[in-house]
Amino acid sequence: MGMGAAACLVLSCLCVSCGDPVETSFNPAYFDLPETAFFPTETNIPADNRLCAEGVELGRYLFYDNRIAATSDHPEGVSCSECHRQAAAFDCGADNLRFVRGGLPLPLQNLAYNTRALGWSGTAVYPATTLEDFIRLTLADSAEFALPTDSIIAHIAAIPLYPKLYEAAFGTQDITLDRTAKALAQFVRTLTSTHSKFDRYMRGEERLSDEEMQGYVLFTTEEGADCFHCHGGAGNVLFSTYMLAVNGLDESDVPYRIPSLRNIAHTAPYMHDGRFATLEEVIDRYSEHVYATPHISPLMHHADEGGVQLTPREKQCLKAFLLTLSDEDFITNPRFSNPFTK
Ligand code: HEC
Ligand code: HEC
Repeated sequence: MGMGAAACLVLSCLCVSCGDPVETSFNPAYFDLPETAFFPTETNIPADNRLCAEGVELGRYLFYDNRIAATSDHPEGVSCSECHRQAAAFDCGADNLRFVRGGLPLPLQNLAYNTRALGWSGTAVYPATTLEDFIRLTLADSAEFALPTDSIIAHIAAIPLYPKLYEAAFGTQDITLDRTAKALAQFVRTLTSTHSKFDRYMRGEERLSDEEMQGYVLFTTEEGADCFHCHGGAGNVLFSTYMLAVNGLDESDVPYRIPSLRNIAHTAPYMHDGRFATLEEVIDRYSEHVYATPHISPLMHHADEGGVQLTPREKQCLKAFLLTLSDEDFITNPRFSNPFTK
C-alpha cells in the first residue's frame, strides 16, 4: 500500500500538466496493481484528464476544503467531505444524514471502474455524463453548494494555497470550474477499495469461514439468495452492475441505480432513502417482502413468491458474507484522508 516516493517522482516527471496526454490511464501507483488484477480492465478515465500526482493532490485539497463555499450566512462553509466521509466509505454516515434531491449520498469507491451511470436515479449516464460532468453539476447544485459556481471559483482563487497547486496540476495558475471538476474527479478516481476480506480471499490470501462461504454461495446462486445478477460476486468485484433496476421494495415501481455492496457495513442506513437501519432488515425484505410490481426486474427470480425465502440460518450466513466486503484499509488509508489535518 501507499504510493512510494519513487512512484511520485516518476509521475511528476511524466506528467508536466494533467491536460497533456499521458500514455497510460491505468497507473499502478494509483490503482494498487496487482491488487486490482481481478478488477475490470476498463476505466472511465477520459483522454483529457489522465491522473497525475499534482492533479490528485489538488483534488484532495479541494475535496476537504469547506472554505470554497463559505458565506456570511454559513461561515463554516461546505465541502465534499461533509457528505462523503472517509470513515463511512465516503458515504455520509448514519449520524450525519444528508438528503439531496430526495436521496442520501452514495459512497465514493471504485468509481473509476463505473462505466454505466452515476447517482441513484441513473440519469447521469456514461458517456453522455462523465464523472467530471457530475462533479460540475454537484458544484452548481444549490442543494449541495448554496453558492453560484463563479463564487466558488472566486473563493478558491482567494485562498493562497491554490494558484500554485493549479499551476502544478495544469501548467498555469488559471482557476476555472473545468479544472476544479477535473482535479476533484482525479482524486475521486483514486478512491479504490481493494483490501476487503473478500478481496484477500479472491487473491488466495485468506479463507472465508464456513458461515461466510455459505453466505457467498447463497449470494451467487439463483436458488439461493439470488443477489449476484445485480450485485456481482467473483466475476464482478465492484458488487454492482451499475444498471437500473426495480427491486420491489414497495409499490412505487421506480427503478434506481444498483448500489455497490462494498463496505456495506459502513454505509447504513440503506436504500436511496435510508429506509432500513440494518442489514437484517434489508435481508428480511429480499427474503419475504418483495413487491412484484409491474416493472420489477426479471432478475428478481423469486418476486412472485414474495422473495427468496431464506431460513434464519441462511440469513445469518448471507449477512456474514456481506460483512466480508468491509475494507478497513480503505476507510483509514492516509492517502485519502484530510490533507489539512495530516
Ligand atoms: C450536501 C451533501 C453533498 C455534498 C456537499 C456533496 N455531495 Fe456528492 N452526493 C450527495 C448525494 C445526496 C448523492 C446522491 C445524489 C444523486 O443520486 O443524485 C451524491 C453523489 C455523488 C457522486 C455519485 C456517486 C455514485 O456512485 O454514483 C459523486 C461522484 C459525488 N457525489 C461526488 C461529490 C463531490 C466531488 C463533491 C464535492 C464537490 C460532493 N459530491 C459534494 C451529497 C453530497
Ligand atoms: C434486480 C436487481 C437486484 C437484486 C437481484 C438485488 N438487489 Fe439489492 N439493490 C438493488 C437496487 C436497485 C437497490 C437500490 C434500491 C433503492 O435504493 O431504493 C439495491 C439496494 C441494496 C442494498 C442497499 C445498498 C445501499 O447502499 O443502501 C443492499 C444492502 C442490497 N441491495 C442487498 C441485496 C441482497 C443481499 C440481495 C440478494 C438477497 C440483493 N440486494 C438483490 C437491486 C437488486
